[in-house]
Amino acid sequence: MIVGVPKETFPGERRVALTPAVLDTLKRSGIEVLLEHGAGEQAGFPDVAYEAKGARLANRDDVFARADLVVQVRALTAALPHSLDDLPRLRKSQIIVGVFDALWAADEIERLAATGVTAFALDLMPRISRAQAMDVLSSMATVAGYKAVVLAAERLPKMFPMLMTAAGTIPPVRVFVIGAGVAGLQAIATARRLGAVVEAYDVRPAVREQVQSLGAKFVELPLEAVGEDASGYAREQDEEFQRRQRELMARVVAASDVVITTAAVPGRRAPLLITREMAAAMHPGSVIVDLAAERGGNCELTRPGEEVVYGGVTILGPTNLPATVPYDASQMYARNLAAFLTHLIKDGQLRLNPDDPITSETMLVREGVIVHPRLREALTAARRQD
Ligand code: NAI
Repeated sequence: MIVGVPKETFPGERRVALTPAVLDTLKRSGIEVLLEHGAGEQAGFPDVAYEAKGARLANRDDVFARADLVVQVRALTAALPHSLDDLPRLRKSQIIVGVFDALWAADEIERLAATGVTAFALDLMPRISRAQAMDVLSSMATVAGYKAVVLAAERLPKMFPMLMTAAGTIPPVRVFVIGAGVAGLQAIATARRLGAVVEAYDVRPAVREQVQSLGAKFVELPLEAVGEDASGYAREQDEEFQRRQRELMARVVAASDVVITTAAVPGRRAPLLITREMAAAMHPGSVIVDLAAERGGNCELTRPGEEVVYGGVTILGPTNLPATVPYDASQMYARNLAAFLTHLIKDGQLRLNPDDPITSETMLVREGVIVHPRLREALTAARRQD
């Protein structure tokens, strides 16, 4: 089976779907790799590194024309509108694997289906232990959590660690992490390594011990959260809860030099947790990094992809942090992807088992038919509105 790796097209996207390190594993499953010239260059993987592992190189048209399966970091709906140029390159029975963000773009998925392809969305991977090695959302959240702290450290007019010097003692920076999922826990760990005093809060009480084991303090709020669903995700809290949460957190926010927010609920707008007034109550020079910027933002002042300064407080709303650490983010993505491909492909043949949740929950389209239940629901709802 030939697996094609086209260059990413989304502006600022520097990752690549496969790295040379995973090519031996793929070869053992009967997979040959065909890479678009320069696809890995921006991530730090030159063409020669792929060739040394047996990959062949081609131009974009040839990659699409010859590949049985195409792998991308940002597939069609996650790279609009640039990705639409690739639609005519797709052909019936070809397989596309990548991150799709499909539930927000049902129309384009219909156009994808019309080409007759089969598409798998890695961002819909079920969160079960068996699928952990294939979980790109966790890998990329890890990178984002780390980079959020590095960005904050770079902007903050203070140093993170406590320093006792001949010029006096410098107190450690105070960091507050709101939302202690995958990104939040990595942000806590990174801020701790830099020497900050860290506090964190999450609506899922289950994370209290994880926060404490990283050397941070769990902020106790006298609130009854509805906690988590069966897959370990947070449930949406009502507006009254969010209002109380803001009120109770205001004191911690005001006393922090850095606030990193990662709070999200799958399929919903991110909860609004920091108002303009709360941000303004922080010391001038303080920094808020809002990792929920793309999902509506946890801070009222956030503008996705921009840097806002309000009352001397800087609010960053980065939208694609993993792309700013492209070498390691690509290595992690490639390992997750290789685990998925070797799960589906045996001896160079695709073996689909409809009873396997890894297959059924990631499959968006099967040979031109939209099969994913949530996507079908989104389409029906969109048609009802028309
Ligand atoms: P996410 O990105 O959807 O949300 C981030 C965090 O925000 C979550 O911890 C959530 O509880 C929190 N949050 C939501 N509303 C909030 C509010 N109003 N205030 C404060 N915090 C709020 O979630 P993520 O990080 O992708 O995963 C969450 C959990 O899913 C993990 O901690 C884990 O339990 C589970 N998981 C399981 C995996 C597996 O078994 N394969 C893999 C990855 C995650």
